[in-house]
Parts: sequence; structure tokens; C-alpha cells
Amino acid sequence: MTLGVAADLAIDLGAGPGYTTELVAEVTQARVAIGYERSPAFCAEARARCGGSLDFVELDVGAEDLPIQNVDLGFCRFLLTHLPNPLETLGRWKKALRPGGVMVFLEVERLSSSDPVLARYYRMIEGVQAEHGQAMSIGRTLEALVQKAGWRVVDSQAVDPCLPASAMATLHRPNLESVRKDPWVQGHFKPEEIDEIAVGLERIGAETGKGTPIDNVLRVVIARA
Ligand SMILES: C[S@@+](CC[C@H](N)C(=O)[O-])C[C@H]1O[C@@H](n2cnc3c(N)ncnc32)[C@H](O)[C@@H]1O
Repeated sequence: MTLGVAADLAIDLGAGPGYTTELVAEVTQARVAIGYERSPAFCAEARARCGGSLDFVELDVGAEDLPIQNVDLGFCRFLLTHLPNPLETLGRWKKALRPGGVMVFLEVERLSSSDPVLARYYRMIEGVQAEHGQAMSIGRTLEALVQKAGWRVVDSQAVDPCLPASAMATLHRPNLESVRKDPWVQGHFKPEEIDEIAVGLERIGAETGKGTPIDNVLRVVIARA
């Protein structure tokens, strides 16, 4: 798959363990692709897997300027949701792109379920993120935010990732273990309740077929600097 955008230099912000950076490198065929990631463990995992073909730089992209210029294409998936000041941060990132350079943003617009386990898990995530000044469904305001930060929006679409609840529950299960250590979660959920959510997520994760209902919509915004 290629994107049809000629990119010599591509970046991936909040790269995690580097899978999205690999994807960016593949679709852009960029000569240089760099993943910026705050977690040293994820950077180490990405470097070990990619074997030096891609660069991974440890950086808090929410607090520090990107140490690069003339970027042709940037990718940013599921990161803005974790930043306490996305508007200001989006404004700073613009300086890293060449004039007319393209940035692709992808965030959750809607994520809910009538299933009590998933509903409780999403309430927990929404609550803990709000406590830290973050927004779980930042996709709802993504287009307006990007525009307000001075980018020129060229496309904005709602996308259904077509993931069944079983796949989502499997993704959520390890996250529950880190989230349950948060003081806000400990103040708002009893340990037994969190254990119940864990068991429920495992049950949903093992489902085959259509199973538990879920409403999952992502927002993709493409913008030029
Ligand atoms: C939900 S993961 C998304 C990973 C990847 N973009 C993807 O879509 O698969 C969010 C990533 O952003 C990283 N992250 C969160 N805040 C960050 C920050 N301020 N600077 C750099 N990375 C950050 C986290 O460590 C995590 O790896």
C-alpha cells in the first residue's frame, strides 16, 4: 500500500513499540522515518524489532519541540487523547513540517457499548483521562482543534474500524492492569469491581462471531502545514 504523497522524511508521533512507524515507512516509502516516543521501553522494543532500518527517539512530544524540520509527512494516532494541552502542542508541531507538508491525525470519536462490562470500563477510562486533563473522545473536536492550531484541514472523515467487541476487549484487558494503579481509579472503583471488569473483558475477548454490541468510530483528519 502507498499513500501517493512523495515523502523523503516522515515522522510518527507517540510511536509506541513502532508498528505505526513501520506502516508509515511502508506507505510513504520515505528515505528516513523516525518514531518519537516518550517510553524508553517502547523505544527499545521498536529498535530491537526494526533492526536500525528506522530511527526511534525518546521524547515527550507534548512538552518539547520536535527536534526536526522539513518533514514531508507526519502521522499521529491515539496520542492527542493523552495530551493535557493538545491545542498548544498541535501549534508547535507545525514548525517541524515543510510548508505544505502533510499531517495525518487519527483519534477516537465514539467508543461505547450497551454491555455493562464495556460500559463500566469506558466510564473508568473517560474518568481517569478527565482527571488528568485528557479527553477519551478527542476525535469529536479533532477537526476544529487542528484548524484552530493553524493547520489547513484538507480532509476529515469518520471511519468505522470494523473491530468486534472481542478484539477491543482483548486490547483493553492489559490496559486495565496499568489503569487500576491510578489513584483516581482506586478512589472511584472497588478492587472487586475492577476484578469483575477484568473477568468480563476476558469473557468478551473469547467471544466468536458478532457477540457484544459496540459503537466504535474513529476520526481521521488530514491537514497541511
Ligand atoms: C495508545 S498508544 C498509540 C501508539 C501508536 N501511535 C499506535 O497507534 O499504535 C499512545 C502512545 O503515545 C505515547 N505517549 C503518550 N504521551 C506521550 C508524549 N507526551 N510524548 C511522546 N509519546 C507519548 C505512549 O507512551 C504510547 O506509546
